[in-house]
Amino acid sequence: MKIIVTGGAGFIASHIVDKYVSLGHKVIVIDDLSTGFKKNVNKKAKFYKADIRNIQVIEKIFKKERPNVVNHHAAIAEVVKSLKNPAPTMDVNVLGTVNVLINFSKYGAPTGRKKLIFSSSGATYGGPKKIPADENTPIAPLSPYGLSKYLGEICIQFYAKNYGFDYLIFRYANIYGERQNPKGEAGVISIFTGLIKENKQPTIFGDGTKARDYVYIQDIVRANVLGLKNGKNEIINLGSSKKTTDQMIFDNIARSMNYKEKPIYAPFRKGETHKIALTGGKAKKIIGWQSKTKLSQGIQKTVKYIVFGNENSNKN
Ligand SMILES: NC(=O)c1ccc[n+]([C@@H]2O[C@H](COP(=O)([O-])OP(=O)(O)OC[C@H]3O[C@@H](n4cnc5c(N)ncnc54)[C@H](O)[C@@H]3O)[C@@H](O)[C@H]2O)c1
Repeated sequence: MKIIVTGGAGFIASHIVDKYVSLGHKVIVIDDLSTGFKKNVNKKAKFYKADIRNIQVIEKIFKKERPNVVNHHAAIAEVVKSLKNPAPTMDVNVLGTVNVLINFSKYGAPTGRKKLIFSSSGATYGGPKKIPADENTPIAPLSPYGLSKYLGEICIQFYAKNYGFDYLIFRYANIYGERQNPKGEAGVISIFTGLIKENKQPTIFGDGTKARDYVYIQDIVRANVLGLKNGKNEIINLGSSKKTTDQMIFDNIARSMNYKEKPIYAPFRKGETHKIALTGGKAKKIIGWQSKTKLSQGIQKTVKYIVFGNENSNKN
């Protein structure tokens, strides 16, 4: 199949590109390299350095490539950034998404089934009362980022219904693993590991009880492969149902890196929920997916990658 992957130079989608290429698909990456890296882009994929908001350029790419599938991961994926300066997040994540949708509607593959896979987020639920949150949890984002992801979902549903393609929306839990940027704002596992590697004390925002549901990157890759065939017009959580606190993450990494210092504790940050985990039951039923990687194993691989820069540690 011919697959356009937006954001394919970034953490999550670069792994999806690797897998799609290895399965023999023809993969085209669109990424503006704002937070992604050219070195992440698989050599066998065709690469366009382009901004998904660029009306003329994106039209030209779609008109030429005519994909069967669009796997849409390009986004500004940072909660705190979206709170400080919401306009760029809304612009890229909503209007950029609409630009991709308009062009997929016009210039999808001329024959056969067409499908769009989207990386939404558990941030759409905000701070749900019932944990783990299932897909019927009320939408109540706490940040412009969470809102932008929800608006993206609505735009996808509109274009899919009215312009003849299928969609599969994944609401991801917290994804971690190789290539997550330790210098970024998101991804506490990479951030703590990167700081400890530089002998700097990591900061925990809050008292350590803030909890998230961590899913390893190769599990997410597997969902994006299963999603090529399975799941028609569905919204599906990709979670493990388990909560892990910041303190547990810190202790686990500190142990594996033989780090003896304590973390710094700073005030909780606005816009971040205190506790969340997402269900995986619908994913199992609809696409045959489950989060399989144990957190301790995933952390070990991530630490190894950050400390030794070992690309081979991400080959599953
Ligand atoms: N990491 C997580 O835990 C998580 C959780 C839920 C959802 N998601 C979603 O998954 C996707 C990928 O996230 P990630 O963690 O890999 O982040 P990332 O920043 O590594 O990847 C995003 C990619 O999009 C590219 N990009 C940004 N703006 C662009 C634009 N205007 N035009 C073209 N490319 C652009 C960046 O250069 C980058 O390569 C995002 O849509 C994010 O919202 C991530």
